[in-house]
Amino acid sequence: MKPLTIIPTYNEIDSLPTVVDRLRTAVPETDVLIVDDNSPDGTGAMADQMSAADEKIHVLHRTRKNGLGGAYIAGFTWGLERDYDLFVELDADGSHQPEQLPDLLAAIDGADLVIGSRWVSGGSVVNWPLHRELISRAGSGYSRILLGLRVRDITAGFRVFRRSTLEDIDLDAIESVGYGFQVDMTFRVATLGKTIKEVPITFVERTVGESKMSGSIVREAVINVTRWGLSARAKALAARARAFSR
Ligand code: GDD
Ligand code: MN
Repeated sequence: MKPLTIIPTYNEIDSLPTVVDRLRTAVPETDVLIVDDNSPDGTGAMADQMSAADEKIHVLHRTRKNGLGGAYIAGFTWGLERDYDLFVELDADGSHQPEQLPDLLAAIDGADLVIGSRWVSGGSVVNWPLHRELISRAGSGYSRILLGLRVRDITAGFRVFRRSTLEDIDLDAIESVGYGFQVDMTFRVATLGKTIKEVPITFVERTVGESKMSGSIVREAVINVTRWGLSARAKALAARARAFSR
């Protein structure tokens, strides 16, 4: 199985080289695709240098900061045009430890999507401020109830998708710009009746650079989850009404 690890970047010049080095050591067989949104700090140029020195490293340049969702869709599309079997999502800031990727890859045997989870037994977060933990837990809890999902860490960004999982999803139809993209993908995979496995990870808060999390990212996610949840319920009700009137 040939993996492609996609790393979205915006101003990650201080952490990206270390993360990619650790990844190449931990999982030498994976190709790497850095998707940079024209970072003002020169991350894109740094990625080009890394790519010139290592044929397994590739770079996609986008013209402006256009969200995590858009970066991943561009990366998936690039990989689907090539012969990759597995698609890995990995943050560039060291929060997702490449040394734990083998655990996720092992779990894809018998699953369509593997999620590196902070909120299952054995999972944890190191050095996160309380408000981030609350947002993450509340976001997962709200999404779990509204969307009827069993997944514990729905917004998680350390994942492995099988190629067939991505092929069965209409990527062009995905509108989520921010981190709500992760919820969007989880919901779509679950709706298709596919198997999702969670593997415990230790998420380590970044020590360099800055989070791109913002109020508008949270707002977008809450609005979308509410919309998807209500429309799924309306559809279920309509189906029941049709069955009843027959
Ligand atoms: N290309 C691109 N464009 N990359 C982006 C953008 C963007 O607009 N926004 C963020 N990124 C990249 C960052 O450079 C980093 O590599 C990764 O996406 C995660 O961004 P962070 O800003 O470090 O996220 P976080 O640590 O606050 O959030 C973590 O938790 C979220 C909620 O659980 C991540 O694991 C998210 O993936 C997760 O959804
Ligand atoms: Mn981060």
